[in-house]
Amino acid sequence: MTTCSTRDFHRNSPVDLMKELTICESLGAGPTSYTRTLGMDGTYGGVLGGFLVEQGLLPEAAFVLEAGGGYGTLMLGLLKAHGHRIRKACMVDLSRRLLRRQQERLADFRDRVSFVQADIHDVMGSIRGCDLVIVNEVMGDLDVTKGLHARDLREEARSIIEGYGLAVPEHGEFTLNTGAIRLVESLCRSGVPAFLSEHSCDPIIPRGMPYLARGLSLDSFPREIRLHGHSEYTVRFSHLTAVARALGRETRTGSLLELLGIPEKPSWRFIFTAQAAATDDQAIVLEFLEHVREYRWLTIS
Ligand SMILES: C[S@@+](CC[C@H](N)C(=O)[O-])C[C@H]1O[C@@H](n2cnc3c(N)ncnc32)[C@H](O)[C@@H]1O
Repeated sequence: MTTCSTRDFHRNSPVDLMKELTICESLGAGPTSYTRTLGMDGTYGGVLGGFLVEQGLLPEAAFVLEAGGGYGTLMLGLLKAHGHRIRKACMVDLSRRLLRRQQERLADFRDRVSFVQADIHDVMGSIRGCDLVIVNEVMGDLDVTKGLHARDLREEARSIIEGYGLAVPEHGEFTLNTGAIRLVESLCRSGVPAFLSEHSCDPIIPRGMPYLARGLSLDSFPREIRLHGHSEYTVRFSHLTAVARALGRETRTGSLLELLGIPEKPSWRFIFTAQAAATDDQAIVLEFLEHVREYRWLTIS
């Protein structure tokens, strides 16, 4: 059994999100040839803001905390499209370098945005007066416990799995998203509503696009994704929802592709099932669908 952490990497190394290709960065801060090809209207942060308003999670005069904001792209889109509802924002990140990027990117909103270098786990217990916490593509960076066996559980993993009655494989080794589960626990205890998204290992396939399930397991356990200088792990969302519900909170969850509201085009099914791209636009569609199909969102209220 081993615990893996990316804290030192995020504290000390230059993080290059272009190598990590987060969905938020792929969709950028404004219209690009990539978003135009996909037919996406608006920025990632702007579209997410519309969804949050619809869900009643972005009240008037809101104080929004974003943890792990990367280059600040989500917050920029959110403030540009829904800034009239946002009184105050706070960016919390482990990486001093990324906080500097966030400061530059959010310079036009400097009167409303503060920046704190901290570990997400250390601040959650002390948030006061906040209306919404956003944690976008960060949970995969939090600690995992690897090499677990259902018949030989010990210490923290045992108390989490037995305490919340989490389903785990009867045979063979598995990995637990210990850090993401601890984060959800502290969010639930803080009472603040939250939006979380990440690459999942139990994805929800959009209605009407069943072909996207091809070759995917829809009920698996966290797997390692090796990146430049560190590894991330996919997240088992059914564990997070079980924890939030056990702590008396309401949850909603779904496919990130559906949330983004990008209308499917008739050619997409063929491009994806044939795994064939004859043009640059088709290559964008193929790459995007391959990438986004495993992403899920979760709201806790
Ligand atoms: C994969 S990037 C995602 C960036 C951005 N949210 C996006 O979607 O493009 C992960 C971000 O989380 C930050 N991070 C990782 N672990 C963290 C922790 N324990 N506490 C606070 N921030 C953390 C990283 O520095 C980085 O900004």
